[in-house]
Amino acid sequence: MAATILDGRELGRTIEKDLMSRIDNLKGRGLHPHLAVVIVGDDPASHVYVRNKEMACERCGIKSTRIDLDSSVTEIEILKVVEMLNLDDSVNGILVQSPLPKGIDESLIIDAINPQKDVDGFHNVNLGKLVQGNTSGLLPCTPAGIMKILEFSDFETSGKNALVIGRSRIVGMPLSILLAQRGIDATVTIAHSRTKNLAEICRQADLVVAAIGRAEFVKPEWIKPGAMVIDVGINRIPDSTRKSGSRLTGDVDPDVMDIAGWMTPVPGGVGPMTIAMLMSNTVMGTELFSNI
Ligand code: GUN
Repeated sequence: MAATILDGRELGRTIEKDLMSRIDNLKGRGLHPHLAVVIVGDDPASHVYVRNKEMACERCGIKSTRIDLDSSVTEIEILKVVEMLNLDDSVNGILVQSPLPKGIDESLIIDAINPQKDVDGFHNVNLGKLVQGNTSGLLPCTPAGIMKILEFSDFETSGKNALVIGRSRIVGMPLSILLAQRGIDATVTIAHSRTKNLAEICRQADLVVAAIGRAEFVKPEWIKPGAMVIDVGINRIPDSTRKSGSRLTGDVDPDVMDIAGWMTPVPGGVGPMTIAMLMSNTVMGTELFSNI
């Protein structure tokens, strides 16, 4: 039987709609949630992601400001922009789009952001809270979106084997911590490029999260029948049957659909949930920390 498709676009829009009354409430108090996005260089995928974030702000009634910097910009110049946004009381959220050009120390830039405006949830202070079991603050958006998908799908996580493939700062690491937290109680395995017998480990998993950035890497024969499969990947691959000559695909082979119990599509799965959680963090940051 084919897997139930977990529609992240629909769930994301529901979450955005729920935010609107909180946004109206804030506006009534003279507070207009405001997200500032810094983008460096001309990476086409990053420009698409940033545009999607701006459109979500428009849908929700969140003000957005975009700051475009040339790829030749120095670390000091980016730090100056971050400091300016930190000092601007009308800005509630700051996001510096990743990846940054070679030679720029990304963690230095992120740690310069006021943690109360760190709507990406990547600052050491926010990640530190997460590690200590405090999940009430600004959480990284993709992991938080995946947790929402699990919540809405009624998938029982307690005592289940969860396999997270990928150990990135943005997805794999924080998600593993969220899945292992008290109340969620999954038994978490983190797999990465040095993992041996990945197929065998994957076959034991009730929940598989693929976040490795390799097109259609996870194969149907690796999947336990009925498992929940969350695909975080967005890869562009050649496809001569398309007018554009290419198509988007995830980190999971589409044939997994015939084996899994639930599966997120690409596009339209995790991506829109990441954006909805960014909107949610911006609203939460405004509610909790606004100086105006
Ligand atoms: N690049 C890819 N995903 C993300 C994200 O969630 N936040 C930022 N800042 N950059 C990204």
